[in-house]
Amino acid sequence: HAIRREDYCAPAFWIDSVDLTFDLDPQKTRVLNRMTLRRNPDLAAQPLRLDGEDLNLARVLVDGQGCSFKMEGQRLVLEKLPDSAPFTLEIFSTCCPVKNTQLMGLHMSQGSFFTQCEAEGFRRITYFLDRPDVMASYSVTLRADRALYPVLLSNGNLVASGALEGGRHFARWVDPHKKPCYLFALVAGKLVAREQRIRSRSGREHLLQVYVRPGDLAKTEHAMRALMHSVAWDEARFDLPLDLERFMIVATSDFNMGAMENKGLNIFNTKYVLASEATATDTDYAYIESVVGHEYFHNWTGNRVTCRDWFQLSLKEGLTVFRDQEFSQDLAGSASARAVLRIKDVRVLRTMQFAEDAGPMAHPVRPDSYVEIDNFYTVTVYEKGAEVVRMMHTLVGREGFARGLRLYFERHDGQAVTCDDFAQAIADANPASALARLLPQFKRWYSQAGTPRVRASGSYDAATRCYTLSLAQSCAPTPGQPDKQPFVIPVELGLLSASGAALPLHLADAAPHAAASDEATHLVVLTEAEQTLVFSDLDGEPVPSLLRNFSAPVLLDMACTDSQLLTLLAHDTDPFNRWEAGQRLALRRAMAAIADKACGANGRIGQPILCAEFVAAMRGVLRHPTLEPAFKDLVLMMPSESYIAEQLDVVDPQRVHTVREAMCEQLALALHADWVWAWEQSQSRGGYCPDPASSGRRALGGLALSLLCLAARSTGDTLWPAKAYQCFKDATNMTERFNALVALVSCDSELAAPALARFHAQFRDEPLVVDKWFALQATAFDRGGNVLPVVRQLMQHPDFNLKNPNRARSLLFGYCNANPGAFHRADAAGYVFWRERVLEIDPINPQIAARLARALEHWKKLAEPWRSAAREAISRVAAKPDLSPDLREVLNCALE
Ligand code: ARG
Ligand code: ZN
Repeated sequence: HAIRREDYCAPAFWIDSVDLTFDLDPQKTRVLNRMTLRRNPDLAAQPLRLDGEDLNLARVLVDGQGCSFKMEGQRLVLEKLPDSAPFTLEIFSTCCPVKNTQLMGLHMSQGSFFTQCEAEGFRRITYFLDRPDVMASYSVTLRADRALYPVLLSNGNLVASGALEGGRHFARWVDPHKKPCYLFALVAGKLVAREQRIRSRSGREHLLQVYVRPGDLAKTEHAMRALMHSVAWDEARFDLPLDLERFMIVATSDFNMGAMENKGLNIFNTKYVLASEATATDTDYAYIESVVGHEYFHNWTGNRVTCRDWFQLSLKEGLTVFRDQEFSQDLAGSASARAVLRIKDVRVLRTMQFAEDAGPMAHPVRPDSYVEIDNFYTVTVYEKGAEVVRMMHTLVGREGFARGLRLYFERHDGQAVTCDDFAQAIADANPASALARLLPQFKRWYSQAGTPRVRASGSYDAATRCYTLSLAQSCAPTPGQPDKQPFVIPVELGLLSASGAALPLHLADAAPHAAASDEATHLVVLTEAEQTLVFSDLDGEPVPSLLRNFSAPVLLDMACTDSQLLTLLAHDTDPFNRWEAGQRLALRRAMAAIADKACGANGRIGQPILCAEFVAAMRGVLRHPTLEPAFKDLVLMMPSESYIAEQLDVVDPQRVHTVREAMCEQLALALHADWVWAWEQSQSRGGYCPDPASSGRRALGGLALSLLCLAARSTGDTLWPAKAYQCFKDATNMTERFNALVALVSCDSELAAPALARFHAQFRDEPLVVDKWFALQATAFDRGGNVLPVVRQLMQHPDFNLKNPNRARSLLFGYCNANPGAFHRADAAGYVFWRERVLEIDPINPQIAARLARALEHWKKLAEPWRSAAREAISRVAAKPDLSPDLREVLNCALE
């Protein structure tokens, strides 16, 4: 029962207005839904089929009269309806919020009511045409017990409120904007708000509110500041103003994802709202800023212009991720701080999205079919979708892109549209651009799954003083797509001399890239399977710097020497490629060690993995007088196990783990004095501030401390673990405290256990910190297989709760996804644990179960005995009857 994109058909009816009345009660909430509908005149007359799920239907009236209806599965079907005129439909039903553990539709969290409707949760609230192309005007009356639920919120403006009999009260909300039902929201409970009045550029006044549970108000300052920045940024960069008098954010601790952009009433996972220096790390602060931005930016890209159908999800998500990335970069300010954010985004893309694209769940940015849409809120739709938008931005330039967005809103404001409509608007606003010229081919980024591979090779001819660079692209088959057509690939590039000087580019058919900040960067647009570029007037063989700033989401194979990579690492003007050169060098060493049978027999790596030149280059970066600590931290961080695994056809997870550990240990020992120096440099002065410069300093300090403790593990030194314990105890902010704790836990110090106990005792009343406590133990160093028993024990801990997604994620995803060395056990006990948990969670929350199931998605790449053990575990889950469609779809894909 897959749904296919090509089967799209407009709705047979339009819903013009919806008036909802809720009598909120945890056991039995009554919902009265009064709609005005009319037939879609463009379609032949047909019955009205309304979606519904887990509802108890009490009454249906058409134009005030009883009428006949039937059920088709969970759908409510009305056959006899007025032909031409609009008519009213009144539906009375009930639902049970306390039993709603899947957290879709109306549910409870800590005694308050919340809703989550995207993608298809509104049907769990009332019968409706639950599809994004049906846009209606909403008015909502909420009635509830005044003492238990003093705050009653919904979308739009509060138009009336007051007391009712029996200790109850009501609030009536009217949303001035039409919207699809997935943007509907209500919240009712004991909440308090931080408020801020702002005036937008146009002079309009707005009220911003951040609602949380009473004890959490002090932790909302950062989210409020991020919201104010978001409003100002969208106005300044894209001329997009806030279109509401009131904009609300509400935090809940039970949430399946990060946050939700309901019109005027965003609902957030507490993880992306609450922060204090005592409880949140720099990374938490940065995520809060970007998620607040993301949901706010949806107000235009998602809400004002929405998706025609869920296949177009990337229309809003890819574009909005691009916008939140640009927001964070603009806020960070300096070129170096921007590059740091870019590198982090690319790291996520390459470890998560490239893996998805290479696995059984590979799908295009605009998928062609799905069973359960919740499974398609993926890194492909979000992060690769953002890269597709970024490439358009590169092809038309910053001004051109702003012009394109303006045209997009001129054409489509108030509509539900497609990815094609978006690309067309950007191209039409820039008729002379490469995007306009190549649009049909460019749109293959939307239709073809898989990561393109670009092979580059260069040759220098001393006689003609020319350098010839050949670029060839290909893309491996993905499920259902055996053959791929060439993509449009924007390649930003530059050349360096062997000594590292930027060289002027003399190249036929390429102009300096307008968007690039330095003149030595050109933009070449690949369109063919193979292309050759000739650079003239060169005195010697240059060092190519390709795909600067990661200008396209591709795999780049560059036949270049170590010494060329060392040149790039030391001198490239493009910080991204500078970082990339270091990663490539490290990756080369890792791959060689993994392939070398002599190295690492019986789990011990005898010889050094990293060569002297590489170590010296790392020292050069670490000691560099002007590079930012945040950038140094990224360069000195070895590629992750998952990124290394991705480069391999057959993965022995234990070997990957051992080799990476050995690399880190070598770097720790060889640069010991430098790490000590770096750690001392990083020690905080003055108060806490989560700005890019100070968080970069803390990040590098954390890496230094981790490696010094790692070195201590092999030398038997007790000084650094003791120092780490001291730091852990004395830290004045969570970032430094947690970094120290991580250092102790990951080097398997004897001080780890007392530190963990102390940490729990200190923060037991801070749920988000307790999540960190669980996650850290799940991702700890695995001494003789001790992590799994610890994880099993932690499931019995009074603070553990499988029904709370954050808590479940911290322990289970921490172990199954983030600790490959401990999860991929030769005795398959990790997979048995996975199987039990997936089956245990599925009846509670299918979305979370399906996500956890994906931990074994790449089982086919595993070496034996892991491969067979993983297949066995997956098959045993798949053999169960009554699995959710979410989980079933993931398992079927994995098993093919
Ligand atoms: N639109 C939300 C965001 O990215 C994601 C909500 C997805 N929820 C879900 N249950 N699939 O901002
Ligand atoms: Zn989003």
